[in-house]
Amino acid sequence: MSRPYVIDQMISAKSIAARIEALARDIHDAFDGTDKLVVVGLLRGSFVFIADLVRELDLPVEVDFIEASSYGDGMESSREVRILKDLRGTIEGRDVLIVEDIVDTGHTLSHVTDYLRSRHPARLKTIALLDKPARREVDFRADWTGFEIPDAFVVGYGIDFAQRNRNLPYIGQVRFTDDA
Ligand code: IMP
Repeated sequence: MSRPYVIDQMISAKSIAARIEALARDIHDAFDGTDKLVVVGLLRGSFVFIADLVRELDLPVEVDFIEASSYGDGMESSREVRILKDLRGTIEGRDVLIVEDIVDTGHTLSHVTDYLRSRHPARLKTIALLDKPARREVDFRADWTGFEIPDAFVVGYGIDFAQRNRNLPYIGQVRFTDDA
């Protein structure tokens, strides 16, 4: 049975848009002169972020997706990461940017980064919209982070709780209303 909850806004749509503009400038500088940047979104949580990010990037861009196992329908991260859907294109000798929604324990992004690095891209960088450093279990830091947030369960802007709330335009914190 699902517990009742409300969602408190944590980061507004306007703040997200402003941060993405700044991040896109940094990414542009880092990959300036690239003949093609393959922007790899981690499904499914990054789909809104990647859509907004690529539209701010004035670079030759190709978009691809990869899916790794994560929370299932719960709130606990699985430590064993499996690739459920692989890239369609080749990244050997290409510039690659991996786009993730949240770095939590760090297992998912560190695993996917190692996995794609083994295909010998030219340059490989990572970006996460959100980072929860307090939850980290492996030594991993994305090259760019949108916002550092506290240890809270968040939804919206592509991020779900049991597949719901991905369509909220802002980032909100889940607060259970049956808490004592
Ligand atoms: P990690 O492997 O523990 O770093 O987890 C990364 C994945 O867990 C993210 O891509 C999200 O899909 C999911 N996740 C982590 N924190 C949250 C959260 O607060 N809300 C929803 N999903 C989350």
